[in-house]
Amino acid sequence: MTQDEAKLLSAQRAVDFVKDGMAVGLGTGSTATLFIRELGRRVAGGGLRIRAVATSDASDGLARQLGIPMTNFTETPVLDLNVDGADEVGPSLALIKGGGGAHLREKIVASAAKQFLVVADATKLVSQLGSFPLPVEVIPIARPLVERRLAALNLNPVLRPRPDGSPYLTDEHNVILDCHCGTIPDPSRTAAEIRAIVGVVEHGLFLNMATLALIAGDNGVTELRP
Ligand code: A5P
Repeated sequence: MTQDEAKLLSAQRAVDFVKDGMAVGLGTGSTATLFIRELGRRVAGGGLRIRAVATSDASDGLARQLGIPMTNFTETPVLDLNVDGADEVGPSLALIKGGGGAHLREKIVASAAKQFLVVADATKLVSQLGSFPLPVEVIPIARPLVERRLAALNLNPVLRPRPDGSPYLTDEHNVILDCHCGTIPDPSRTAAEIRAIVGVVEHGLFLNMATLALIAGDNGVTELRP
């Protein structure tokens, strides 16, 4: 099974968790996109009435295009289910997210959801987080200060570029410092150290948030719980 086939399998399984009447968080990234497309098909088929909140402008645009009714946190402050991908899935379903640069809204949406379902292929499973660079979203004016602080923590921050070499900007017009940590032996500690830096908006460590992961590979879909 290819990685793309595994992503699709996980995304299709996730749609079975969406029930009529639910308010649903829509993630960002290639696996979440497959989920949104599948969800759109079921909604268009008339079998599923839901409302959704998206974690990025891209996912919001796709969902609207597919005819998925969208809501917001004023109308719908509690979501029944959030479905999103991950860059790494570690022990206790600790995650690194933000490879697509959307981890700020992804964390906001996840925090509003009663259940957070992770959709991923088996290559995302790790025994320790940190091989994938940890994204840290930063207010642009604070970037030099935050960069120095992250470097002092030996987190090896690198400014994320756009393809043309200019700084990548998030949907909220902030920059991202990708921290090449190598390993993150104590994710809670690292999360607290990064959060304490003034100018940091949000980091990509999602701890104690995911409630179930659907990990797809050659043996089908494995359900993992924290
Ligand atoms: C987006 O910011 C990320 O958190 C994605 O959820 C993550 O990068 C996983 O993306 P893929 O499903 O494309 O691997």
